[in-house]
Amino acid sequence: MGTTAAERFSVTDSAVAADLRVLVLAGGLSYERDVSLRSGRRVLDALRAVGVEAELRDADVALLPALAADPPDAVVIALHGATGEDGSLRGVLDLCGIPYVGCDARASRLAWDKPSAKAVLREAGIPTPDWVALPHDRFSELGAVAVLDRIADRLGLPLMVKPAQGGSGLGAAVVRDAASLPAAMVGCFAYDSTALVERYVPGMDVAVSVIDLGDGPQALPPVEIVPRNGVYDYAARYTAGRTTWHAPARLEPDVAASVADVALAAHTALGLRDLSRVDVIVDAAGQPHVLEVNVSPGMTETSLLPLAVQAAGLDFGRLLGSLVNRAAARVTA
Ligand SMILES: Nc1ncnc2c1ncn2[C@@H]1O[C@H](COP(=O)(O)OP(=O)(O)O)[C@@H](O)[C@H]1O
Ligand SMILES: [Mg+2]
Repeated sequence: MGTTAAERFSVTDSAVAADLRVLVLAGGLSYERDVSLRSGRRVLDALRAVGVEAELRDADVALLPALAADPPDAVVIALHGATGEDGSLRGVLDLCGIPYVGCDARASRLAWDKPSAKAVLREAGIPTPDWVALPHDRFSELGAVAVLDRIADRLGLPLMVKPAQGGSGLGAAVVRDAASLPAAMVGCFAYDSTALVERYVPGMDVAVSVIDLGDGPQALPPVEIVPRNGVYDYAARYTAGRTTWHAPARLEPDVAASVADVALAAHTALGLRDLSRVDVIVDAAGQPHVLEVNVSPGMTETSLLPLAVQAAGLDFGRLLGSLVNRAAARVTA
C-alpha cells in the first residue's frame, strides 16, 4: 500500500528498449488468427510509440530464414491459440537462440493444456472448479450415454463444456440440463479431440493480468467482464458493444486482494514468466476459482491486459518496452 502502480513497476525511461530491434509475431493458422493480427498491430504501434524499432511478421515458412538472416534482439509473441501458446514456437525460438517475452516452452505447453494446468493448480492448493477431461475416443469406447450420466451425477448441473486446448470461448457451452450435454460435447469435439467438462461456477468473470519486470510477479488491477447476453463467447469478446468492462473490477478490497493472491499463486505454480493473464470466477461468497491461465493474452483495443495496464495508470508501450528489455537480456541456449 502507499505506492502507485507506476512506482511498483518502476517503468522508467531507461528501462524501455529504445536501442533494440524487436520482432512482433502475429497471425498464425489458429482459429484466433484475426484476433492475433489485431494484437500484433497494437503491440507494434505501442512499441514504436515509445521509440522501439519494431517489425511485424507472421509465423509462416518465411519466418525461420528471416530469423537466421537478420536475428532480432527479442521477439514478442502476439500469436494466440496453439501457434503462440502450445510451447512449440518458443522451443523453436530457443533453438535459434532468440529470446522472447513470456514464459518458456515447457511452461507454455503446461498452461495451454487446461486439464494439465488445472491439476497443477489443484496440487498447489489453488481453487479451480472440479472437472473431468474426456478424449473423444474414450467417450466412444466407454459409451457416451453412460459417461455423460456419470458426469452429470458426480459434477452436478450446470456444467461448462470446453475444449481442453483452445481459447476465445470457441467450442465452449454452458449445459443447464442433462439433455443438452451430448450436443455440447459434439460441439466441443469440433474444436478439440479432448473435452474438458467442468462444474459451472456462477459469479463474476474477472481477468487478472500478472506482470514481472524483475522484482517478482505483480497483479494489475482485476478487470471485470460483463457480457451483454451473459456469456463471454467469441462474439461477446470481439464485437463492439457486446461486453462491458469494469477496470478495476467492482470487488470489495479484501476480495480483490484474494483474487490478486490467487492469480499470483497460479502464475507461480505454472512456472510462468514476464506476463500472463489469469481468468477467474468470483462466486457469490467472494471466493475466486481459477479457470485458466493465458501465456499469450490478447492485446487488442478491447483486450483485458491492455485495459488492466490502463487501469493501473501505466503506459502500454513503456511496459512492453521494459518486458522486451528483460527478454533481450536473457541468455538463451
Ligand atoms: N467452470 C466455469 N464456470 C463458469 N463460467 C465458466 C466456466 N468455465 C468457463 N466459463 C466461462 O467461459 C469463459 C471462457 O472460459 P475459459 O476457461 O477462460 O476459456 P477460454 O478463454 O480459453 O475460451 C470464461 O471467461 C467464463 O465466462
Ligand atoms: Mg479465458
